[in-house]
Formats: sequence, structure tokens, C-alpha cells
Amino acid sequence: MNNDPIGIFDSGLGGLSVLKEIRKLTPVESILYYADQDRVPYGPRPKEEIQKFSDEITRFLLEHGAKIIVVACNTASAAALESLRQTFPHIPFVGMEPAIKPAAEKTKTGAIGVIATQATFESERFARVVDRFAKGVRVLAQPSPDLVIQVEKGEFDTPRTREMLHHYLDPLLADGIDSIVLGCTHYSFLAKAIGEVVGDTVEIVDPAPAVAKQVKRVIDQQGLAASAPLTSNLKGAITAYTSGDPSDKADLPTQMLGESIHFRKP
Ligand code: DGL
Repeated sequence: MNNDPIGIFDSGLGGLSVLKEIRKLTPVESILYYADQDRVPYGPRPKEEIQKFSDEITRFLLEHGAKIIVVACNTASAAALESLRQTFPHIPFVGMEPAIKPAAEKTKTGAIGVIATQATFESERFARVVDRFAKGVRVLAQPSPDLVIQVEKGEFDTPRTREMLHHYLDPLLADGIDSIVLGCTHYSFLAKAIGEVVGDTVEIVDPAPAVAKQVKRVIDQQGLAASAPLTSNLKGAITAYTSGDPSDKADLPTQMLGESIHFRKP
């Protein structure tokens, strides 16, 4: 048993989609969340810079007692997960991976779409996953950087966001995809609008629930789970930090998480 918090970080608010799934599976766990909103987006940045930011944030979360680090950002996972594991060999890490496998297993048209950041698509991690799981399936990779900022602004389904979604997704639809993989944690918050743009015949594949399961598996296997709650509805505390301005859109994170969360300066 270990009542230390689970540390989670992202370039911004996207990782709340992963936090939400972790919360459903293990509500008793306390959470430390770090949003690097001062430096979002990570997608257009060089790998070395993303590694440096990820290293700094991991140190911060460990100094604040995190027992495991969840890299709730595909871009940071692609750029930095391996170097983080080398730098902090005794800390368990769980990262994001584009859900090519489930999409490739199910496709009937033989074409799947992936939306993610440029840095994710350029990574070895992405190339490895495609190589391993997309056998004989066409993977249409669509960088869609502006969507990250739309989510940061809380524009989940505004006319401008819809316009961007059509711009990115219509060519993939014309190319015959029957699933769209959300390769960026921010995009979970656009799932409803994406569903309406792509229609019923295209499945949306979001890796967040699988990542939450992996987090639970790791803490259970390593004896790191928090002790059972005293009452059935006792939830662990959520402590959240942002490198940005906590008073900016202060209610947005709560709206996104569906549970009260208040950001403070580190
Ligand atoms: N949530 C990050 C991801 O999953 C956003 C990327 C960014 O900051 O550009 O890739």
C-alpha cells in the first residue's frame, strides 16, 4: 500500500482526458497534475526541448511525492519517454502510444486515419508502432496542430473548430478511412464534434481508457496502490499545477474533468 499521489503531466489540459479515465478506475488514488500551459503547444518543438521540459516536470512531480509518472501527452511520450526511463530508472512510467493496433485489427476498408502533432508523427516511437501493427493497412497521418489550442481555449465545438475538423478530416474520409485514432490527449475533448464530422461509419479510437488500465496494472503489480477508502465514496485529492496563469479560464478544467480541479502556480 502506498498513499503517495500518481503524477500526471501534459503540455496543457489534454492530459485531463487520461486523468478522467484513471479516476474512474481508481478513485481512491490521489493525483498530482501538471499542465505546462506556459509552453503549450509542444508539437512544433524540437525533440531535445520536449525532453528538457519533460525532465523538469518529472523532477517537480517526484519532489512533490509522485510514486509513478504518467506522461499524458503523446508528443512528450514520443520525444522523452525513453530518456525519462533512463534518467529515473527506479520510477515507473506509463506513456501514451497511438492506438494503431486496435484500429488496424478492426478496419474493413484497410485505411485508418491518425490525428496527432508533427513531433509525434516524426518520432521513432510512431514509426515503430506503425511498423509493428499496421501490416497491410494504410495509415493516413494527419498533423492537426491548431486543434490543441482550440481545446486549450475551451472551443470544443465552435464554428472555427468545426471548420478545422473538416479541413483535417474530409481528405481522410475521401480516402476511405473507417476509423480515426486520436493521437493527442487534447483531442478526446473534441470526440463529440469529430464524431459528427466523420459520421457513424467511422470509429473514433481513443487510447485514454487503455492507458488508465495500464496505470492501474502497474501500481497493483508494484504494490503501489493506495489503501482502501474508509467509506465507499472517499476519493483521493487532486492537486493541480499550471506553468500558465491559473486565473485564466479558471472554470474550464473543472468543466473538462467533470469534477472540481483548481490550478495553482508551481
Ligand atoms: N496533449 C499533447 C499530445 O498528446 C498535446 C501536444 C502539444 O502540446 O502540441 O500530444
